[in-house]
Amino acid sequence: MNEVLRAIRERRSVRAFRPDPVEPEKVEAILEAGRWAPSGRNTQPWRFVLVESPEKRAALARLVPQRDMIATAPLTLAVLLDRRAGYDELKDAQGIGACAQNVLLAVHALGLGACWIGRARDREVEALLGAREGEELMMLIPIGYPAENPPPRERKPLSELVRRI
Ligand SMILES: Cc1cc2nc3c(=O)[nH]c(=O)nc-3n(C[C@H](O)[C@H](O)[C@H](O)COP(=O)(O)O)c2cc1C
Repeated sequence: MNEVLRAIRERRSVRAFRPDPVEPEKVEAILEAGRWAPSGRNTQPWRFVLVESPEKRAALARLVPQRDMIATAPLTLAVLLDRRAGYDELKDAQGIGACAQNVLLAVHALGLGACWIGRARDREVEALLGAREGEELMMLIPIGYPAENPPPRERKPLSELVRRI
């Protein structure tokens, strides 16, 4: 199978991580994948905050229900929407979604694991992240080497999803 298609099929949400750090070149490759996502009018409204220090990771873990995931992942990527860069609420959100999926696929392709945590517009977390004027939190993505190998979650069959006209 084509490697992109295989990555799409084999990616899983990983919620338990080994403590090993993520190599800087892999972090760079993950950010590059996010940067190359499509966006409406090519506005690229995403902004990234890497939460790496033990102090910030612990503080972030205290603010979210997914405490263990965030506390154990060596790295959490916060994706913010810069409203001043965007132009349309729905289209900006669509672009951010494409960016997050690029990140997840890159993570998987590099032998790492991650989980998309939808956590939009949380003022406390935004303050901890140092969000700037006009920036809103869209999701948190804890990243690390997997400490679990989750089975595939069920997907609806195409026969239920597709109509041909
Ligand atoms: C918008 C969005 C929000 C999500 N929020 C959470 C979350 O808060 N906590 C969590 O454990 N997983 C979260 N997930 C991951 C989904 O639960 C997961 O993608 C889904 O169950 C399918 O499993 P898979 O990713 O392993 O294929 C989220 C995924 C998306 C796309």
